[in-house]
This record gives sequence, structure tokens and C-alpha cells, in this order.
Amino acid sequence: MASTDHPLRILLIASEVEGLVKTGGLADVARALPETLARLGHEVIVVTPAYGRIKSLWQSWPAPPLCVHLNSFSETWMASRRGRQHGLDLVLLEHEGFFGRAGIYDDGEYPYSDNPVRFAHLCKGALQWCIDHQWQPDIVHANDWQAALTPFYLKEHYRKLPIFERTRSLLTLHNAAYQGQAPSHWLQPLGIHDQFFHPGAFEDNGQLNLLKGGLRFSDAINAVSPGYASELVTDLGGHGLAPIFRDRSKDLHGILNGCDYGQWSPVTDPLIPAQYSKPDEGGKANCKKHLQLELGLAPEPDTPLMVCISRLADQKGFQLLIPALWEVMRDENVQVAILGSGDRNTAAHLHRLNQHFDKRFAFVEGYDMALSHRIEAAGDAFLMPSIFEPCGLNQIYSLCYGTLPLVRAVGGLKDTVVPLNTQLRNSRSATGFMFEEPTAEALEAEIRRMLKVYREKPALWLSMQRNAMKQRFEWEGAAEQYVSLYRSMLSSD
Ligand code: ADP
Ligand code: GLC
Repeated sequence: MASTDHPLRILLIASEVEGLVKTGGLADVARALPETLARLGHEVIVVTPAYGRIKSLWQSWPAPPLCVHLNSFSETWMASRRGRQHGLDLVLLEHEGFFGRAGIYDDGEYPYSDNPVRFAHLCKGALQWCIDHQWQPDIVHANDWQAALTPFYLKEHYRKLPIFERTRSLLTLHNAAYQGQAPSHWLQPLGIHDQFFHPGAFEDNGQLNLLKGGLRFSDAINAVSPGYASELVTDLGGHGLAPIFRDRSKDLHGILNGCDYGQWSPVTDPLIPAQYSKPDEGGKANCKKHLQLELGLAPEPDTPLMVCISRLADQKGFQLLIPALWEVMRDENVQVAILGSGDRNTAAHLHRLNQHFDKRFAFVEGYDMALSHRIEAAGDAFLMPSIFEPCGLNQIYSLCYGTLPLVRAVGGLKDTVVPLNTQLRNSRSATGFMFEEPTAEALEAEIRRMLKVYREKPALWLSMQRNAMKQRFEWEGAAEQYVSLYRSMLSSD
């Protein structure tokens, strides 16, 4: 058993890591959390695929071979590339067939049909790496469905190995809507014995569900906000897995993500045209003017600019946002700038708004990290009407840039934004706007209420911006909570 102050050895497994490959917030966390844990004195190795698109990073790193057996008949030869990048100790698992292709999860349209076996190699390869290098982890920290087989392999395939005798596994849920469902013929190739294909483990209505199995076999589970953790046990918020979350509720925790203020602060951000530390000192206004010119919006300093940076996915509430924007844009003088990529149908609707409102609406379809910083800095308000939101990082970034978030009261959004109450009486603590019902009408009403405050109560708006910019969601605090959780896992049987 580990004593309370002995540094821990943590093997963190994730399918994306910021600075290597990123499609969403998982990548931000898979960089910031291990970096912070390492700063706190722990020994952390992050295992992720050696994707072909980042070959220039890893091709010169040594490549000892790694042999992975998912079941007793199969054998896959991979290579493990170990190297450091900005303070992160990385092991990248290389396999041209699985990870050399252009996409991360899909071919641009459809998920790769062999995703279960691709990511199973990540899970088992990570454990095999520990065996080959005699690196004994205290904690195996798996993230989302792509890493969810790790706790299973640890418990069922490697149970008797002395190297993992003391190891405990944590499965973190960044997004439980993605579950790694697959036809049941994958059972045998993945090395999952038929005895585990029942509704209490991997079976989900006749299909294989990797996340579900991972939830069964991990020693502890956590969601990326307390709000999301409490929603997961409900039929409405459990993404179809509520019974298993309820079953494991004693081991289900909520730890709010942090924000990497080294990257996301208007005081130091090198990617924005003017840095600022106060919302009214000119820098923010400059950023707004700059973005209006860049995106072809009318250069009007007093017209409120609402912004959004998002994956275009059902989760993010575009089915509410698009009709609400048609209504609001028709009779309010307001500008909108949206940066997003993903669902083509959603993009088509946003292009239509763009054409219709020309100088007042800008939709940039694509993924652009530098532009996302300029948008955060330029906006007056950030729209995030998610249907569900495990944590959400953009509303946290927005707070720091004095760009007031307007969010739906759900998951991590509820945990991070203090809404202005209906009597407008909490000006000293309010940091944004919030609505409850997942309807376009409720969102539209809240946008109109917000615009009224912007126009009629500039002092209140400014005080909310100041409150927002003072909020701090430091990674140190979140990492310390992870360490307490790890230690409690190690001290229980
Ligand atoms: P999610 O992980 O569900 O997509 P988060 O708010 O947790 O949502 O994190 C999203 C991350 O991805 C943020 O860092 C955000 O800036 C970034 N992001 C999302 N879409 C884009 C885009 N089109 N261009 C640049 N960055 C984006
Ligand atoms: C997921 C969630 C998002 C969360 C992120 C990082 O992609 O959708 O809410 O912030 O992971 O944990």
C-alpha cells in the first residue's frame, strides 16, 4: 500500500493529446492533467497512438518492438516510441495499419469499422509496454471508450502478473455518449470471453459496448464535473447506461476540469491582436474590431458580438441555436461569429444564416486553433446551449477573456457559470447567463434578456465581466483531487 506522500506512478491512456492530435477537450485534459501531476512530483507516462499525421514528431525517437496479443491466437507487432514533448513523458504506439491512416476516428464521413480493434491495441499495448519495461504503475488512468478496455485487460488478462498486483484502474468519462459500440463478432478478436457478454458487463442489446464493459471492470470511475456525475445516474442523463452508473454510484466521482491559463489568458495570449487584463482598458475592444474586420462583419464597436467555437455535433445544441438565431437576428442589431466543424447538415444551416445576414453573421467552417483564441478575445458573449455537457472548456476560457457565457443549465456548465438572476441582483457574483429548458424558445428568450442587459445596463455588464475574469479553475486543484482519488483507490482492497 502506498503511503500518503509517496509519489505515484501513473500510466495515463488517451486517444488524443493536445499538441499532438486534438478533436476536442479530451486532448486538452490529456495534456494539462499529466503535466500538472508531474509538476506535483508524480511520475506520469502518457500513452497514445503514434498517428501518421504527427510522424515528424516521433520518427526519430527509438522504436523498440512491442508484441500485443489481444487473444491467444493473435499477435500484432507494433513499436513503442518514447520521447518527451514540453514536459510530457510520452509513449506513442506505432502501427502503420491502425494509426498511419489520415483520420483519427473516421474517414471524414464514417467511423472506421475496425475502431474496436485499433483502440484495443492502444489499451493492451499500454499494459504490454509496462511489462516489457518493468515499469510498475500504481494507477492506470483510462480515458473514454477508446481506453475503456484497459481496466478489463488488467483485471482479466493480467490478473496474475506480479507487476500489476498493486495497480488500480480509473476510468474517466469525458463523454459517455460515445461508447464504442460494435457488433458482437468483435468479442473474440478483442479477447473478451463469452462469459462477459451479458447485460451486466459488455452486452448492450445484443451489441458489444466497450465503455459499458470498462465501467464494470475499473476500480473507480469519474466524470469531468460533479454536475455530470450526478446526471449520469439518472435515466435522462445516463446515455442509456444509468443502471450501471447507479450500480457503481459508490465508486463514481466528479472532478471538475481545470483550465490551462498558460495557453488561455488574455494577459499573455500571443495569438490575440491586443493583450488585456481588464475588460474596459481598450485591448478587448481592439480584439473585437480586429475580428470584425477579419470576418467581414460591420466594424461597429457597440453592436453586441455573440460568438461560438464548437464541434458541430448534436450534443452542442445547434438544433436550438439555429432557430433561435433566425428569430433574434431578424429584429435585434447583433452580430454573430461561429467557428465550427463536424456535422455537414448543421454547417449547411449555418452557411444559410451567413448568406442571409451577411455583414452581421460570420460562420467559419473548419478547425482553427489560432482563430479560436481571437474569437474568445473578441466576443462580448459566448453561446453554449448544450443538450448535455460533461464539463465544457470553452465557457471556462470565455470567463477568463471577459466574454460572458450564455449556457444551458446542464453538467459542467452549471458548475462553472454563475447566472445573473431574474431580479439582476447578484451583480457581484454573476458571471453569465443560463437557461433551463432545451428548447429554441427558452434559448431565444435568454439571448434577448442578455442583449437587454448589454444595452441598458452597461455598468452591470462590466461588473459581470470583472467577476468572470477573476474566476480561476486551476489545474493544480483538479490534479490534487485526482491524487486523493488515486490514493483512496490504492488504500482500498
Ligand atoms: P468538446 O470536448 O465536447 O468538444 P470542450 O468545450 O470541452 O468541448 O472542448 C473543446 C475544445 O476544442 C476547446 O479547446 C475548443 O477551443 C476546441 N475547439 C472545438 N472546435 C474547434 C474549432 N472548430 N476550431 C478550433 N478549436 C476548436
Ligand atoms: C468531452 C466533453 C466536454 C469536456 C471534454 C474534456 O469532449 O464533451 O464537455 O470538457 O471532454 O473533459
